[in-house]
Amino acid sequence: MDKFLIQGGRPLEGRVAVSGAKNAALPAMAATLLTDQPVILHNVPRVRDIGTLRSLLDELGVDSAVEHEEHGNRMEIQARRLLSPVAPYELVKQMRASVLVLGPLLARFGQARVSLPGGCAIGTRPINLHVKGLEMLGALIKVAHGYLDAKANGLRGANFKFDTISVTGTENLMMAAALADGVTVLENAASEPEVEDLANLLNKMGACIEGAGTGRISIRGVTRLHGAEHTIIPDRIEAGTFLVAAAITGGQLVLERSEPSHLTALIAKLEEVGVPIHTTPPRPGTFDCPVLEVRAGGPMRALDVTTQEYPGFPTDMQAQYMALMTQADGESVIKETIFENRFVHAPELARLGADISIDGRRAIVRGKTALTGAKVLASDLRASASLVLAGMAAEGETMIDRVYHIDRGYERIEVKLNKVGARIRRISEVP
Ligand code: EPZ
Repeated sequence: MDKFLIQGGRPLEGRVAVSGAKNAALPAMAATLLTDQPVILHNVPRVRDIGTLRSLLDELGVDSAVEHEEHGNRMEIQARRLLSPVAPYELVKQMRASVLVLGPLLARFGQARVSLPGGCAIGTRPINLHVKGLEMLGALIKVAHGYLDAKANGLRGANFKFDTISVTGTENLMMAAALADGVTVLENAASEPEVEDLANLLNKMGACIEGAGTGRISIRGVTRLHGAEHTIIPDRIEAGTFLVAAAITGGQLVLERSEPSHLTALIAKLEEVGVPIHTTPPRPGTFDCPVLEVRAGGPMRALDVTTQEYPGFPTDMQAQYMALMTQADGESVIKETIFENRFVHAPELARLGADISIDGRRAIVRGKTALTGAKVLASDLRASASLVLAGMAAEGETMIDRVYHIDRGYERIEVKLNKVGARIRRISEVP
């Protein structure tokens, strides 16, 4: 398992390019199951989770080809036929988002056998709402031996209100409803940019989806979908992680290929803390992305935050924000409302010298504390990111073990950060 060896105490300075969003590319790849025509995706990030889903699609009999492009990968995917309707445990346990093949398989082929994802470090991660919604569309679903066995003799449009807002739940049902007979209305749907990006791709494929990006999405089913070409949106969580990286090291970064409008809650919070952030709009008449500029270095105030569904403060930025609050003056309370166990990074940050106490879904951070390098353990994708951030701010050397967690959702993060002044060495251990 690879490790990171980080020499801390160096402010970051320079320009860093943001990759395509993992959580937009994954549903887009699943959506290719809905047609027998080729779908071409651009700006696909080179991260482990994308490889895992590609392996799963390969198991199902889907052809795919990948080419390097200047920004991310170009991926051409074609589901001409289905060799197997089974998403096996060995792949699903590696990545919960594999459940995204359930809706498309049912809609196109009328059958799916998907392993239950199981829990992960941040929570039990149930999929009861995915199941309930698909049953409303006419699917017959049994659970046995750790697998969901689903069948559908054609799906029918229905109205479905989510008890809890679910990002992949919304995406699964949107994809299933795209080929259902009649109209489906999803209430209390997720409004994340990744949901909207998926709807944009589906509409390019011939779907009739309105309201994506809001809490109410209506999908008028069609009989078939065709191929399309689509560019994946920038990764707002990677961009947010780089903003915090500049803030925690007191540096200055320019983020290229980001989409600031997807980060309004985080940007507002960072500016309130005392981290000036400037957005330069694209030049009129060009296809440039806006540029995000962060100039840190001044004193930072400890401020409370509560994670919420989009457009609120993202749960996927909570761990990174906690690392930052260890360097802010005062006490801050971080409330995690989305997942029941998403403070696993706190004891690891404490090993670096942070003063954090946990009270249920609240973490109380007392700053500013001097961080000193230590050996720490990565546990999940965003917890690992927070340890990299804290390691860059710590005096001395930090060793992070199990960095495969970070490789799941960040494209060679150490290469990007070293280019702007960090000193992170990847130590690859031959298994
Ligand atoms: C997506 O996960 C993201 N993953 C997560 O990012 C992200 O943290 C999460 O949304 C919240 O924003 C992908 O998009 C691939 P949920 P998802 O369904 O869809 C409960 C990362 O770091 N729930 O929105 O699995 C659930 O327990 C990952 O990239 C049910 O109760 O999350 C949670 O409390 C981590 N029943 C809440 O809803 C269900 O059927 C939100 O979960 C589904 C969800």
